[in-house]
Amino acid sequence: MYARIAKFEGARPEQADVAKRLFEERFLPEIRKLDGFTGYTMLGDRETGTALGVTFFETEETLRTGNRALDEMSPPDELGNTRRTSVELYEVMFHEITGDATAARIGAVNTVRVDEERLVGFNTDAPGVLDALEGAGGARVPGGRCLVLGAGGGGRAAAFGLAQAGAAKVVILNRTPSRAEKLAQQVAAAVRACDVAAGALDASSAVHFAREADIIVQATSATMSAAMGGLGGRAPWLDAIRAHLRRGITVLDMVYTPKWTELLTSAREAGAAAVSGLSLLVHQGARSFELWTGRPAPVDVMMRAVDAEIPDRG
Ligand SMILES: NC(=O)c1ccc[n+]([C@@H]2O[C@H](COP(=O)([O-])OP(=O)(O)OC[C@H]3O[C@@H](n4cnc5c(N)ncnc54)[C@H](OP(=O)(O)O)[C@@H]3O)[C@@H](O)[C@H]2O)c1
Repeated sequence: MYARIAKFEGARPEQADVAKRLFEERFLPEIRKLDGFTGYTMLGDRETGTALGVTFFETEETLRTGNRALDEMSPPDELGNTRRTSVELYEVMFHEITGDATAARIGAVNTVRVDEERLVGFNTDAPGVLDALEGAGGARVPGGRCLVLGAGGGGRAAAFGLAQAGAAKVVILNRTPSRAEKLAQQVAAAVRACDVAAGALDASSAVHFAREADIIVQATSATMSAAMGGLGGRAPWLDAIRAHLRRGITVLDMVYTPKWTELLTSAREAGAAAVSGLSLLVHQGARSFELWTGRPAPVDVMMRAVDAEIPDRG
């Protein structure tokens, strides 16, 4: 795995969220089309207005082609005199990481532990989704019919986690249907007993599958507040689902800015169990803590600390 690391300086601190939104709206659709692109992450320091953009590619060759294309994309005018001051290329040692069985099946690692000379990778998002649904949400995953909205990293962890935990059916809907279809094929191949389907994220499919679901996992950024780069819950498919929530189902919204999204508020009003993305954030972090330290994580302390830090409104 190879990474391009670009350093941005000079943005005003308050522009950090704007920069993220502009990046995702303007550049990400183009970047996703680049040959060998596998993912990206952005790290920013709001106090200094400095940010690092890391883009991952499969091979050295696709990195070099992608790097040239990325260099041609200049920071948007809205960011004033933001400067991209350095670009470096790194080979990331991901090929040295041996995934445990769950991470290998999901094909994604979010926790790395150093075991003597070896780097061992784990995925704690998938079990974190189950902890959140079954703990805070009181859901019963084995035999359940599940609807996953989104096929990015979060949707991937949810779809695999649910199928592996014995869900009878997992339907994945995504704005870009081809991503949902690819993920569905992978989940179906890994867990043959699960009925897996995929489709486009539109109002009619969302309502159709929400009506028959016992568990709904919202894994897109659409419910995130507009200030954080989301749609603030404004999407026809979200309105359609909100009108069809009912008692007896569990709804997990992976988003935690705001803590209680409009989808979750509607779920509570309809008598459904509503689980905030904060619960997932804490549970996946707790699983990582336990892998690193070998000690039980103080989940309640972590939950209180995170709850106090994250604003009610996004
Ligand atoms: N609570 C937690 O610990 C936790 C863990 C993981 C993720 N999350 C949250 O879950 C959300 C998704 O994260 P991710 O890691 O999966 O991101 P990602 O890999 O970038 O995927 C983003 C997903 O959102 C969809 N999407 C983006 N904008 C959309 C829009 N306007 N309308 C409909 N769909 C849209 C994308 O669809 P396309 O494929 O069509 O682009 C894709 O399915 C984020 O808000 C993240 O903060 C929370």
